[in-house]
Order: sequence, then structure tokens, then C-alpha cells
Amino acid sequence: MDSIPANRRLWNQISSAYQHEHDPQIGAAPRLWGMYSIPDAHLHALGDVTGKRVLELGCGAGQWSRALAAEGATVVGLDLSEAQLAAAARAMGAARYPLVQGAAEQLPFAADSFDLVFCDFGGLSWAPPHLAVPQAARVLGRGGRLVFNVASPWFEACYDEAAGRVTTTLQQDYFGLNTIAEGDGATSYQLTYGDWVRVLRGAGLIIDDLIEPRPELGTPNGYNETDPPDWAHRWPAELLWVTHKP
Ligand SMILES: C[S@@+](CC[C@H](N)C(=O)[O-])C[C@H]1O[C@@H](n2cnc3c(N)ncnc32)[C@H](O)[C@@H]1O
Repeated sequence: MDSIPANRRLWNQISSAYQHEHDPQIGAAPRLWGMYSIPDAHLHALGDVTGKRVLELGCGAGQWSRALAAEGATVVGLDLSEAQLAAAARAMGAARYPLVQGAAEQLPFAADSFDLVFCDFGGLSWAPPHLAVPQAARVLGRGGRLVFNVASPWFEACYDEAAGRVTTTLQQDYFGLNTIAEGDGATSYQLTYGDWVRVLRGAGLIIDDLIEPRPELGTPNGYNETDPPDWAHRWPAELLWVTHKP
């Protein structure tokens, strides 16, 4: 299914409110992963990017991209939404980097263009993974890494739509999560653990790690209410995949 037009519309509509609400958290410091802003210094997912060619898939307002550009990476920020790209352009610091409008499932780059492709709830949450993962693998050079953070199937399966929060009760079928309707045709994507492994391996990638970011007790979730509040300290809310192209 083609969710590109609807996802573009959605993010153009919500960009301003989203940045107003979340930019202070996402941009509070460089390299913060996910809904609980866990520092990469604790998770060790990205490593040194100095001198590396880096692509962020679904860069939003570019909080990650500008941090990596400031560290000396040659960064490209790609996003589907012109409103999100405009937010990234406004927030760009002294270390300039190019912004490209495009879709993770149809990357407008030649093979072997990057040493690192990554995202944090970006293109691999909002594009069909069976299309976006092979695209990421294609644009990586040999030895290049694909690193990305997405919601876990646990989190999605326990999301109570009516109550608008994550609970300790299974609400949706694990095997039926594949697409999540986000309104007016917009869609986000979720795979089972087995399907992630098959999609990554099918694209020729080696899985180096599956980090399950675990917030400290009392760390707030900036996006979703959870019941109990320490839900993500007890169950994995996110999957941070670390892979490379051999
Ligand atoms: C939750 S934001 C992630 C960006 C940033 N890490 C953040 O947390 O705000 C999701 C981003 O993915 C972008 N997006 C949605 N569908 C996309 C697609 N098919 N390809 C690339 N980017 C997409 C949206 O425009 C949005 O900027």
C-alpha cells in the first residue's frame, strides 16, 4: 500500500504542534533516543560518526542530524514533510547540512552513498519496512551500518486506543500489528520480532545487536501515558536495532 501522500499530509498538518510540544525534549541535548530521551552515551548504538557519511531517515526538525553534523559527520537529513524540513532548516546551527524531501521507501540516492543510515521513530516507523529496509541497505557502502529505534510490539499490543494509554493488558493481536492507522489514511508500521529479523536478513544485513532501551525509574514518557507510569522500566517499550552491511 502507498502511504506516502497521506503520511506527508499528516506530518505537514501536525508539524507545528508536534515541534511545539516535543522539540524541547528531543533537542534538550545531543543524541537522545526515543520516548524516554535515553542518551546514546548509555546505549552505545551509534558510535563515533566523525568523517562518516550519514543519512537520517525521517529527520523531522533535525535534532539528531544537527548534533551529528556538529560532531563532524557529513549528514543528509531526509524527510517526507516539507513542514518538518522547514522546521529543520530554521533550527540548523553553524554546522550546515543538506535537507532532502523524499520517502524512506524510495530513497533518491545512489548505491554506496552512506556509512551510516539511522533514525529514531522516523522512516522505519512510517514507511513499510519490507520496502524501506532494502532501500537503506542499498544506499549503504560495505561495512556501513543501519541503526534505528522503533516502538516495540509489546508497547503497541498493550496500547488501549479508547483510553489513549499503554496498559498491562494485551489489547491488539501481536500477529496483526503490521499497519497502524493514524487517521485519514496515514499509517505507521510495526513488525513482529521474527519479521524484523527476516526483513533485515533478507536485505543482506547482519544483526549486531538488539538494544532494548530501559529508562530509569521515574523517567517520564514524553509522548504516551502509561499505566503504570514505570511501564517501560518493567517491559521493553522500544527496539533499537544495530545492523551492518557485510
Ligand atoms: C516522529 S518523527 C521522527 C523525527 C524525529 N526523530 C522526532 O522524534 O521528531 C517522524 C518523521 O518521519 C517523517 N516521515 C513520515 N513518513 C515518512 C516516510 N515515508 N519517509 C521519510 N520520512 C517520513 C515525518 O514527516 C516525521 O518528520
